Amino acid sequence: MNMKEIRQAADYIKKQGVLAPQVGIVLGTGLGKLLDSVDVELSIDYSDIPNFPLATVEFHQGKLVYGELFGKKILAMAGRFHYYEGYSMKQITLPIRVMKLLGVENLIISNAAGGINLNYDKSDLMLIDDHINLLPDNPLIGKNLDEQGPRFPDMSRPYSEKLNNLLETIATEKDINLRSGVYASVSGPNLETRAEYRYLGIIGADAVGMSTVPEVIVANHIGMPCCAISVITDLCDPDNLHPMDIEDIIQAASVGEQKLIILVKELLRKL
Ligand code: HPA
Repeated sequence: MNMKEIRQAADYIKKQGVLAPQVGIVLGTGLGKLLDSVDVELSIDYSDIPNFPLATVEFHQGKLVYGELFGKKILAMAGRFHYYEGYSMKQITLPIRVMKLLGVENLIISNAAGGINLNYDKSDLMLIDDHINLLPDNPLIGKNLDEQGPRFPDMSRPYSEKLNNLLETIATEKDINLRSGVYASVSGPNLETRAEYRYLGIIGADAVGMSTVPEVIVANHIGMPCCAISVITDLCDPDNLHPMDIEDIIQAASVGEQKLIILVKELLRKL
């Protein structure tokens, strides 16, 4: 992806009528209900946007939704791209670069994740405080897009202190138990072995999932403040591990989603 391709996508979206979105939102697997509350002005299929990859995972719809939510103009990705689907890191993160050109000022990300921290419960929310990138690739490899950011972006605080503080405050106000922890990103698509879950705990991860980190790396590259919340969908205790049940994961995601929606709405209101 070069600047020309990024600009083509942004220009197309602008031409459809997406004007000055303030907040970008990336919704994780099974976490699309937030969009029910959006006063939708426009939605654009990924397949219509030049240079956008197509969404493939069955739980994802694959469109950009533009509208108003709690007084803010938002641009939401309903359906995100995963590395395990075969997309390149540059394809996965193209929408974030496009959001920058459209004027998005803050980015909110959600995902479904496995709970490594044994104090966590199913459907808990975890505010991502930091991450460990275990993906075998990086979206910044290759010629640097000098126009968008530096060659060696700082990652001393990849998640916005301001946004995270606001979310912590909101969680307290709304009596939501918001954990705070480290997210490890893996490629998937298989889930982890017991030995891998044990390893993830030892290296300092509280949750594990197959997304988010590429988008966060690019958000840091382009200087876009971001925050991310994981919904814990399964417990990954290596000494008591049950076979994964996708229905169970979707169910846990939808319970956690109710709390996630409250947090995001209040965050938008306070921004
Ligand atoms: N591992 C990786 N990704 C996941 C998991 C998990 O246990 N649960 C939800 N996404």
